Amino acid sequence: MEKKRSNFSGKIGFVLAAAGSAVGLGNLWRFPYLAAKYGGGIFLLVYVILAVTFGFALTIGEVAIGRKSGLSAIGAFQKLSEKYAFIGYLAALVPIIILPYYCVIGGWVIKYLSVFLTGNAAAAAQDVYFGAFTSQAIEPILWLFVFVVVTTVVVYRGVEQGVEKVSKFLMPILVILTICIALYSITMPGAFEGFLYYVTPDFSKFSMTTVVGAMGQLFYSMSLAMGIMITYGSYMKKDVDLEKSVKQIEVFDTGIAFFAGMMIIPAVFAFSGGDASAINAGPGLMFITLPKVFASMPMGNFIGAAFFLLVLFAALTSSISLMETIISIFCDKFGWHRHQATLLVFGMTMVVALPSTLGFGIWSGITPLGMDFLTFFDFVSNSVLMPVVAFLTCIFIGYVIKPEAIVKEVKISSPFKNEKLFKVVIKYIAPICIVVILVTSILSAFGFMTI
Ligand code: PHE
Repeated sequence: MEKKRSNFSGKIGFVLAAAGSAVGLGNLWRFPYLAAKYGGGIFLLVYVILAVTFGFALTIGEVAIGRKSGLSAIGAFQKLSEKYAFIGYLAALVPIIILPYYCVIGGWVIKYLSVFLTGNAAAAAQDVYFGAFTSQAIEPILWLFVFVVVTTVVVYRGVEQGVEKVSKFLMPILVILTICIALYSITMPGAFEGFLYYVTPDFSKFSMTTVVGAMGQLFYSMSLAMGIMITYGSYMKKDVDLEKSVKQIEVFDTGIAFFAGMMIIPAVFAFSGGDASAINAGPGLMFITLPKVFASMPMGNFIGAAFFLLVLFAALTSSISLMETIISIFCDKFGWHRHQATLLVFGMTMVVALPSTLGFGIWSGITPLGMDFLTFFDFVSNSVLMPVVAFLTCIFIGYVIKPEAIVKEVKISSPFKNEKLFKVVIKYIAPICIVVILVTSILSAFGFMTI
């Protein structure tokens, strides 16, 4: 069943909807822990360079493919060149892998919201709190269930627009609160050293893993390489300035990630004195560090609750866009009824999420490629599948439909200021770099080389 394709009312409509999908746990949870782990300033620098080259070119390419074809991923590739429909199918796999573990973290967010709502900031600030929570079997599953149910109900009832409206109004508050917490963080005793760690590139810490990590994060954070930007592009009107819209989304998305890092990394230093194990805390970093910040603030319970509530909204707009994508693929491809597809995706998400949550507790002994399940799924989607899809998309644009096709689409609405940059990146730089990065990251995951 083809969904009705309504146009966004104008530029702001597209920018806000795409930003709703882009801004989420990727910015607030994932970016800070990767930046902390991969050497601080050097990660930030690599990320920004990738964002203004790769990120820019790929986002333009995807949005333009969507607007040109007027279809979502699978249909879009098919329409532009029959033989290449398989790229759309590969892209469709990505949200199927991401959604379940995204919901696990969404569940953690609801748990922390409840902790602060019940005035337990002090307990959550204990070092052992996060580990004790995630290693249980039942409680994290219940919170995960709540998050999946909320996402499903919104999608099932087709009230995304309601959520988007609310989040249009909440998102700016989240940004302001994040900046305020960041400013508070860097003024804590001992935090300034952490701030310097975050913003000063230390080239001795540069390695291929930094680039692999930054590239995966870029795809994830910008909702690239999974067909989502193609779908959003398909809703974009022909007279909307495509290049400018893409730039706005990138600046917004990267800005929030930057402040999220500034809120968390200096605080890690303040509370641990720069101890390496604290910086490498991994997926739990936000949940371990922020409660300490809140507990040290006046009105910490209130601010903590407000913060996690806003994060929850940001996470929901992203999980909704992930679930929506999967459902529309099932409906389009298998001709399923939307309600059936929604229930199926709900069940599938719960089942596939189980290993990711149990991997921190009773299944912690099972470690595919030496990783816990959540990190493993995250690795497969961000470090393997997304680079493959991104590479194929570059080849598709660079050599099948040719960059001119995209340039023409962009120029329908405005002059293309960075046309040259776009062409060079999409044809040469991006595909070559992605292959190098992909091969090294896979070899190192299997232990064939250290990077
Ligand atoms: N970009 C979202 C974030 O940063 C995650 C996401 C990925 C959302 C893919 C939709 C699709 O949290």
